[in-house]
Amino acid sequence: MYANRVLSGMRPTGKLHLGHYHGVLKNWIKLQHEHECLFFVADWHALTTHYDTPEVIQNNIWEMVVDWLAAGIDPALATLFIQSQVPEHAELHLLLSMFTPLAWLERVPTYKDQQEKLAEKELSTYGFLGYPLLQSADILIYRANLVPVGEDQVPHIEFTREIARRFNHLYGREPGFEQKAEAAIKKMGGKKARLYEELRTRYQQEGDTEALEAGHALLNEQQNLSLGDRERLFGYLEGGGKVILTEPQALLTSASRMPGLDGQKMSKSYHNTISLRDTPDEVTKQIRIMPTDPARVRRTDPGTPEKCPVWALHQVYSEDGVRDWVSVGCRSAGIGCLECKQPVIDQVLKELVPIQERAAHYNENPTLVRNLIADGNEKARELARDTMRDVRQVMGLNHD
Ligand code: TRP
Ligand code: SF4
Repeated sequence: MYANRVLSGMRPTGKLHLGHYHGVLKNWIKLQHEHECLFFVADWHALTTHYDTPEVIQNNIWEMVVDWLAAGIDPALATLFIQSQVPEHAELHLLLSMFTPLAWLERVPTYKDQQEKLAEKELSTYGFLGYPLLQSADILIYRANLVPVGEDQVPHIEFTREIARRFNHLYGREPGFEQKAEAAIKKMGGKKARLYEELRTRYQQEGDTEALEAGHALLNEQQNLSLGDRERLFGYLEGGGKVILTEPQALLTSASRMPGLDGQKMSKSYHNTISLRDTPDEVTKQIRIMPTDPARVRRTDPGTPEKCPVWALHQVYSEDGVRDWVSVGCRSAGIGCLECKQPVIDQVLKELVPIQERAAHYNENPTLVRNLIADGNEKARELARDTMRDVRQVMGLNHD
């Protein structure tokens, strides 16, 4: 049995590029050797913003899976699946929605941020508001404890922890826990029982920690309680119970901000990407036309590497020797910019060779890809079903 279970998802909204590779996929590839890993295509999440362009989602799902495999995600090590093929995510999302305060969703920072960023789109929708809760369902349904994500997603993981806590608080009790606790209270006798009830209310409703301490003292004084009853009343006082859903932790992807062709972070919205599927000619051309330090108008003008986006790429791709050569050559106008770019071009092309070879293999064998996703879907469903059995049971939905 594995100690940890890692889960992460990606929305199929566009071609993957070197930013995804360096920022996300390399980390997944490492994790698949260390832990049980589940990686999935978040197609429902993509629909929350792309509900008017379903073809984008349809086309990108399989390309994205091929890109993952091409990058080195190994289906023998990690379970790969598609969110919408495990409908239990939707069922858990619905059940969690029953006790999720609207205010919790409205205060998730990505909600307003994204609405403002994508202002041209109608995003005052029920589905978009529920985005983080659907994400919670994705995570909680597998009882995953580690979730590799970028910094922007940390509030969603924090939110998920709160949902898990609230769930466990509401439903995490042994069968008949409340009745047993209530019976134990009665055994303390009228006056003490009333005091216990009062302290419990004060702690749970107002967070009054003095009431909690007084409650502990009261229980410790009780001679006529069995050990089991005393334990129950300690738990009941704090509102704790059995843990049914696991609180996950964010595994922060080290902020390896892959620089784009213009020096900003590589991102589709900045149109500064090198895609994993770009041909060697395209890659070469894109790097050759990259802007450089504007001070180097002529070949004889010296430049400052720190003012040049090519320098940022050298940080990712070049060894010390090459970087020294750039640093000296740029400042002294000893090298030209095209010369300077060549080692970067070479390294990017070298990095893409095995990726594109694997991509070709999978593209030639679409059935292989379909089958491996079908297997992943099935594995995921089995795990999800297990959790849902427990969830339905404690939420009064066990109708067998
Ligand atoms: N919201 C995530 C993103 O945009 C994608 C995602 C959906 C996800 N469900 C998830 C990530 C569950 C981790 C775990 O990157
Ligand atoms: Fe940029 Fe290199 Fe040209 Fe200097 S020599 S400006 S670092 S491309």
